[in-house]
Amino acid sequence: MTPERPVVVLCPKPDDETVSAARFLATEIGCPIQPRRGRTIAGVFREGHDAVIGVSKTHASFFISSHEPPFLFHPGLAKNRIGSLLRGEPETLTRAAGLVEGSTFFDATLGRATDALVVAHAVGDSGRVVGVEANPIVAAVVRLGLRRSVVPGKAVTAAMRRVEARQGDHRDALAAEASDSWDVVYFDPFFEKQVRGSVDMTPLRLVGCHDGVSVGALEEAQRVARRCVVHKVRVDHDPPPAIQDWNLVRGKRRTGYLVWHKG
Ligand SMILES: C[S@@+](CC[C@H](N)C(=O)[O-])C[C@H]1O[C@@H](n2cnc3c(N)ncnc32)[C@H](O)[C@@H]1O
Repeated sequence: MTPERPVVVLCPKPDDETVSAARFLATEIGCPIQPRRGRTIAGVFREGHDAVIGVSKTHASFFISSHEPPFLFHPGLAKNRIGSLLRGEPETLTRAAGLVEGSTFFDATLGRATDALVVAHAVGDSGRVVGVEANPIVAAVVRLGLRRSVVPGKAVTAAMRRVEARQGDHRDALAAEASDSWDVVYFDPFFEKQVRGSVDMTPLRLVGCHDGVSVGALEEAQRVARRCVVHKVRVDHDPPPAIQDWNLVRGKRRTGYLVWHKG
């Protein structure tokens, strides 16, 4: 669902950096900016907006109603996964996708960019990570976070600066890429049922695109990938028919990755 009347609302007494972040978001989304004027988020919704992006010194919060949790960018679990890689421990996505220093990775379902951050760390400065996100407000909030957030631990901040976030539908984005141009193309669509314990995903589930990955998109990915296409799955559910003969690499809990290798 793409909101039709979004608005960016500043926190009370914003500093210059907050105003500049709000301007960035308003330009990316193509919507007005308003001062807070003492209103609650519910009060802003009552004025007829269908999305409110509240901007404070530390965060941009994307609300689609005043009673549901907002979507925010934060490196979250990527911090732990990058920590594991730094300790030399195995990381399932990096292993499933066969990523090494210098690999290129096209993330067709960017979301909060958690996976993209882990991959950006794994492939390093000489690699490349591009992510495409369908929801324009999610894409803008994530792009802002990737450019400006600073978190403890240099490796996570460095990974954030390396992910290139684009807005669009992955079907169009893949169609525009040359054949064999990315080592890995990756899909992580929403599971029909949320994995228990992943409540952190709830705000993104509320605003993200639930279309699933079409056979056409998979075919485009197979054309664009030089080495492999990776599709995250729940191991306790049947995979989509088009990918059921791909190779399974099991992850933690009930998730895994189905991998198709070229050639
Ligand atoms: C489960 S989330 C991905 C989470 C992501 N891997 C992460 O680490 O944060 C799926 C995301 O893909 C996006 N999406 C779904 N269909 C898409 C499409 N056709 N093109 C681009 N993005 C899409 C959704 O809006 C949502 O943000």
